[in-house]
Amino acid sequence: MASDLSSTLAEGRTSVSAAKSARLAAEIAEFADAVLQGLSKRPRSIPSRFLYDATGSALFEEITRVEEYYPTRTETALLDAHGNEIAALAGDVDTLVEFGSGSSRKTSLLIEALAGLDAYIPIDVSESFLADATKRLEAKHPGLNVKPLVGDFTRTRNLAGAPRGQRLGFFSGSTIGNLTHEEAKAFLENAAELLGVGSTFLIGVDLKKSLDILLPAYDDEEGVTAAFSLNLLARVNRELDGDFDTTRFAHTALYNDAKGRIEIYLESLAEQRVRVLGRTFSFAEGERIHTENSHKYSVSEFQTLAQTAGWQPVKAWTDPDQLFSLHLLRSA
Ligand code: TRP
Repeated sequence: MASDLSSTLAEGRTSVSAAKSARLAAEIAEFADAVLQGLSKRPRSIPSRFLYDATGSALFEEITRVEEYYPTRTETALLDAHGNEIAALAGDVDTLVEFGSGSSRKTSLLIEALAGLDAYIPIDVSESFLADATKRLEAKHPGLNVKPLVGDFTRTRNLAGAPRGQRLGFFSGSTIGNLTHEEAKAFLENAAELLGVGSTFLIGVDLKKSLDILLPAYDDEEGVTAAFSLNLLARVNRELDGDFDTTRFAHTALYNDAKGRIEIYLESLAEQRVRVLGRTFSFAEGERIHTENSHKYSVSEFQTLAQTAGWQPVKAWTDPDQLFSLHLLRSA
């Protein structure tokens, strides 16, 4: 009996770790494809989702605490100040669905304001991040039914097994700004489908503002953002047998006024050659790899975008310095 059980357990462990290493191999293959393709085309680019490996995620956590990076603390203050009004306007919410589950501090503020909430469904690509968040939130909110969903929230097509009832979506951190306007519209349309008719959606959106405030938020004095950015090249070295000299590339953030967005690049500081998975890529001095966009919206610009995607603006809140906005929408 005991040996039966231990062999069953051992088998279980083997298949779990086999599944995990298969997933890891698939992730590396996807990263390899994206990097080889992105470095082969002009202008060069690598999709931003690859910034968030374990090191990148830890560095991003640090960014959220940097003095110049106002979005996280401003959004948290807005939730703290207006949570009760948001909850009252959203009505009797049964299920909270979070897209790209952010810091559990922001989520906790919302959960506390939503009396009568039954279930919380965080959707995130990072399984370990979800496991941590689930543990923390279950401990903090006894009785709350936490059902994590592993996956890319832009590609989630159904909330399998999620309870029916009134749903509120939550998309924080101005992550919607990392999508182009077309992608944001598609995301909002899909979210309307997922959450259902009559549901509500709370979205944190960074506002357009003076470049004196905006640019340092994406290039802080301490160099945390630069380290986060350059970690992408270090990740290529670690995972794809690359030989990027990270001292010969610089993190660059600029504002594209016509497109209303911050653009993030890695810029070559010299003419140089880099090898990745046995292939050679030549860089001219000043040549850039694009890694991220962060779109900024006025309150009315975002409301117009939401309306084109089937959402009615209910109310928007901003801080006294007009740095950040929280939008409550209802599906039409
Ligand atoms: N969602 C964050 C934002 O747009 C992401 C971010 C902050 C970011 N700082 C960055 C992405 C620096 C790349 C590089 O504000």
